[in-house]
Amino acid sequence: MLLKDKVAVIYGAGGAIGGAVARAFADEGARLFLTGHRLAPVELVAKEITAGGGAAEAAQVDALDGRAVDEHVQSVVDRANRVDISFNAVGIPDATILGRPLVDLEVEQFAWPVAAYTTSYFLTARAAARRMVTNRSGVIMTVTALLSRTGVPLVGGYGPAMAAKEALTRSLSAELAPHGVRVVGLRPQAMPETATLKEAFEPRAKATGLTWDQWQELLASRTHPRRLMRLAEMAEVAAFLASDRASGMTGTTVNLTMGSLDD
Ligand SMILES: NC(=O)c1ccc[n+]([C@@H]2O[C@H](COP(=O)([O-])OP(=O)(O)OC[C@H]3O[C@@H](n4cnc5c(N)ncnc54)[C@H](OP(=O)(O)O)[C@@H]3O)[C@@H](O)[C@H]2O)c1
Repeated sequence: MLLKDKVAVIYGAGGAIGGAVARAFADEGARLFLTGHRLAPVELVAKEITAGGGAAEAAQVDALDGRAVDEHVQSVVDRANRVDISFNAVGIPDATILGRPLVDLEVEQFAWPVAAYTTSYFLTARAAARRMVTNRSGVIMTVTALLSRTGVPLVGGYGPAMAAKEALTRSLSAELAPHGVRVVGLRPQAMPETATLKEAFEPRAKATGLTWDQWQELLASRTHPRRLMRLAEMAEVAAFLASDRASGMTGTTVNLTMGSLDD
């Protein structure tokens, strides 16, 4: 098992990516502390994992609230003695921005995803790093999207937010890696199983007349294998990156766009 007895905290664990990563970490033997904005979806994931023989506990933590994040991480350390992995899979709702041109947005609407994504990643990384540095061991992880490096219309500040998170991954690593803490991101291709992708499709359907199937085909045609990614594939990579087998990786965001985005 890649993550046997590793203690992992996941933020946004009730979501598509957070839930898939939680299942993969559990399969690899990690002890999980799952958190989310609303408790009910996180509890569902935790129950599924414990029913399968894994170790998972659920808690309600607003990942934009520094005190809530700190108190939760401290409670994990009090019970499990350490934090080995921190994974921020938080997705900030952006329904009012999707489909609207940048020139039509108020500055607050543009700035919201940039501030929210970076704040959440900063707060969760900081809370973990403070404990990990003491142990001279740990991995801090998050997820971004290919919009960090490609111009995509009608998504407001989402692309700049993803780029800022990838920059923060590099900055955190530069400061933390000398203390034994790795910082690694994942940049997955779109995963059609997720509600996020369906939500991103709606405004495009109106603008382009494409059907859901046609849009998926269009995205898939840009990848080398001519198909989109499954959540489980992304989560397998996350488990490897979180493991000691990836000890040579830090300060980078792994390009999981299946060839859509050149390195
Ligand atoms: N899905 C894809 O195909 C894909 C591909 C590439 C990148 N991404 C990116 O990866 C991220 C996650 O995507 P996803 O598909 O997993 O999204 P998702 O299913 O909507 O999950 C996001 C999770 O974040 C939680 N959350 C939101 N605000 C929070 C807060 N303040 N504190 C704690 N938790 C909070 C949500 O909880 P509540 O529901 O309780 O609010 C939800 O469980 C997003 O940035 C997304 O754009 C997604």
